[in-house]
Amino acid sequence: MKIDPEEFRKGLRAFTTGVTVVSMPDGKGGMHGMTASSFAAVSVSPQLVAVSIAKTAKSHALLSGDNCYAINILGEHQGFHGHYFANRMEERWDPPHEWIDGTPILTGTMGWFLCRRWAAYEGGDHTILVGEALKIHRTDDRPLVCNRGVFYSLGEPVEPGKPEPQSARSSRHLHTENATSSD
Ligand SMILES: Cc1cc2nc3c(=O)[nH]c(=O)nc-3n(C[C@H](O)[C@H](O)[C@H](O)COP(=O)(O)O)c2cc1C
Repeated sequence: MKIDPEEFRKGLRAFTTGVTVVSMPDGKGGMHGMTASSFAAVSVSPQLVAVSIAKTAKSHALLSGDNCYAINILGEHQGFHGHYFANRMEERWDPPHEWIDGTPILTGTMGWFLCRRWAAYEGGDHTILVGEALKIHRTDDRPLVCNRGVFYSLGEPVEPGKPEPQSARSSRHLHTENATSSD
């Protein structure tokens, strides 16, 4: 049985991620960017990272050539970048950025990977773009975290402990793939 699309989306959005902005030249001398939480580490040798880009995104067309792009990792105080580059804000401005090797990179993020396209894989309505990291910058800043589309700061470390007995868990929050309840 096919999973209800809304339930599938909710299942995906429940997975907690960091938040990145993929930045690239807009082809008119400026910067274009898009918020992406699909960032993934791929390989250490060669040094590869991936993002999954919707085929409908303007960024998809801009990333179809062999220009370099950057994956900027947002820090906990940079939720505004996450909203801005997801086109969630009406007001438009020019976020501070610098150009490195012909690639626009956001200023003051907690780190970035400057990438060259290494491969692109068919992924349904997305393309899985694998990039080889040419340069990297990193800090020990605290990350921005995303769960169900909402941005958070990282919480306290959790000590390893014994799992709760099954019976102690609430069944109120259980959803199966054909659940009818709304989140
Ligand atoms: C937290 C968050 C994570 C997102 N992650 C992705 C992603 O990994 N891939 C994607 O294609 N779109 C993702 N989006 C949606 C794009 O940021 C959004 O569609 C954006 O407007 C695309 O910009 P563009 O069309 O100007 O390229 C995400 C949005 C948010 C708010």
